[in-house]
Parts: sequence; C-alpha cells; structure tokens
Amino acid sequence: MKITVVGAGNVGATCANVIAHKELANEVVLLDIKEGTAEGKSLDMWQTAPINMYDSKITGSTNDYSKTANSEVVVITSGLPRKPGMTRDDLIATNAGIVKSVTENIIKYSPNAIIIVVSNPLDVMTYCAFLASKAPKTRVMGMAGILDTARYKAFLATELNVSPKDIQAILMGGHGDTMVPLPRYTTVGGIPVTELVAKDKLDAIVDRTKKGGGELVNLMGTSAWYAPGAAAAQMVEAIVRDQKRVFPVCAWLEGEYGLKNIFLGVPVILGKNGIEKIIELQLTADEKKLLEDSAVAVKEVMDVLDKMEKVA
Ligand code: NAI
Ligand code: 2OP
Repeated sequence: MKITVVGAGNVGATCANVIAHKELANEVVLLDIKEGTAEGKSLDMWQTAPINMYDSKITGSTNDYSKTANSEVVVITSGLPRKPGMTRDDLIATNAGIVKSVTENIIKYSPNAIIIVVSNPLDVMTYCAFLASKAPKTRVMGMAGILDTARYKAFLATELNVSPKDIQAILMGGHGDTMVPLPRYTTVGGIPVTELVAKDKLDAIVDRTKKGGGELVNLMGTSAWYAPGAAAAQMVEAIVRDQKRVFPVCAWLEGEYGLKNIFLGVPVILGKNGIEKIIELQLTADEKKLLEDSAVAVKEVMDVLDKMEKVA
C-alpha cells in the first residue's frame, strides 16, 4: 500500500508525518516542486521511526511522479497558503494551475487513486482536481469539514472544560465564512449542547469557528497546519482501513440537499471506495437557507474557474 502527499510544506509534511506514525501504508511518498525539500523532510521523518517505533517507509521526491506510481490515496496540499489580509479565494489563479497539473501527473501514474484535496480555495480546488482527473465523483473529495468541526469542538471543549473526545458535531457547507455549523446536531456526552451553553456564548463560538482559519493566519502570518494535516490523515485512515466513518467532506452533489453540480461540505460515509454514501439530513428551513447561501458563494468561485478553463 502506497500513499502520496503532494506538497511538502506545512500541511503536507504534517499530514505525511501523521500517516507514517499511524502506519497507514507501507510507503508514504512526499513530493514537492522545490528541489530537495521533500527528500529532506522525508529523511528527517524517517529518522523519527526508530524513536517513535513505526516502519512505514517515507520517500521524498522533487517532482518525479514515477515514484508515486500505484498510490491508493493521494493528498494534494500543493499551493500557496493565505497571508494576513488575503481570503482563500484570492489564491484561485495560482493554485488552480498548480492543482490541475499535479492532478494530471498523479492520474498518469495512479489512475485509480482516491484524491483528497486540501489546497485552497478548497471547494473550488476540489472541483479543479475533479475536472483534471476525470475520475468518478466518489474518488475525488476535499478536506475542510473535519478541520472546521474540530475547531468548533475544540472551542466547545475549552468553554465547557470537558474532553474534546466527548463532543459530537457536524458542520456543513463551503470552507469559508459561509460554512454552516449545526448546533442542533451538537452533543456533549449525549447531552444537547444547547442545554449546556447559553445562546450568546454558542453564537460566539459558531462565529469564532467560521473565522477560525483567519484567526490563525493573523497569529502566525500563514495558515494553520497541525489540525489540517491531521484532518487529511484522518480521511486517509478511514479510506485505507475501510472504517466507514461519518465525516463532513467536500463532495460532488447531484441533487442532494436540492443542490446540483457543485462541490460542498456534507456528511458522508468514508470507506475503501472513497465516498460510499452522502447522508442527507433533514435540515430546518433556516439551516437549508444557510446551506444554499454557502452554495451560492462557492458557485461564484467555481464560475471563475470555469471561465479560466475556457480561456486556457
Ligand atoms: P506551504 O507553502 O507551507 O506548502 C505548500 C507547498 O506546495 C510548498 O512546499 C510548495 O513548494 C509546494 N508546491 C507549490 N507548487 C507545487 C507544485 N506544482 N507541485 C508540487 N508542490 C508544489 O503551504 P501550506 O501551509 O502547507 O498550505 C498548503 C495549501 O493548503 C494552501 O493552499 C492552504 O491555503 C491550504 N490549506 C487548506 C486547508 C483546508 O482546510 N482545506 C487548511 C490549511 C491550509
Ligand atoms: C484554514 O482554515 C486557511 O483554510 C485554511 O486554516
């Protein structure tokens, strides 16, 4: 079993490191365009194997896709991250070119790979990889919902002084300010969160979650990597171990939730075949409206990509 991570920057290297630690594959290939970066980080990670007691081999590659051949899962993290003052959508032109060429190279050597996109703007870069790969919709997906939900859970755990393990929640929609947290589906050890947190506090947590990525960009001057890397690795784990986990994942919709021809975050079952099922929640009218607003925002950026494709 081989897993490839493209982009050996902050998120990609963290993701590869988690994958190796969890021994999700015999071989993890880390690929980057920057000469020596992937080789250096892979060697450094491999030297943690005797300390952390794992034996997944980690191989680095500077743009040599033959090393990625026959990967079962590929995580794409290549592309620019946000700097303070930038939105995720500001990254579209540069990152679309990168994601397109990376996907074409990946598919050439691993035609049956399941692709997990992390590069931003997430929903539209997933669409970009879907178009470039020509792969079935079950095998191309984006990572954002697990991260956004983890941020929401972490804020709630801090607020309530409870273990994050006991918080169950789901967020939907695009990876951006229009994401849709669903307090109605949030429980703490089985107790509805609305019984434990006052409405104004819960509203503030929801708002902080929506701006969670930006908060970290402002603190660090670049975007986050520990939680994003771990979140992408959790998707890899669900697939290679056929766990049938229920996660919010950026998936291609063909009528679910009344939405068509769009990548958007929805709850899915993730297993060895990729997205095995999209779960349709019975949303209230208000929740549905929030999801539709999120879809409109994502669609606008998808249209920008479609226009760029026509010019190219
Ligand atoms: P980074 O700058 O640390 O790493 C990006 C890496 O991509 C660099 O090493 C660069 O050399 C490499 N790269 C650029 N063009 C390439 C190409 N054509 N082929 C192979 N490698 C190439 O950035 P970071 O922090 O790792 O973020 C990566 C992407 O992930 C960004 O677009 C960021 O916005 C996004 N992101 C998405 C999240 C999500 O929830 N979906 C969360 C965090 C980051
Ligand atoms: C994040 O949410 C910027 O998408 C990145 O951290």
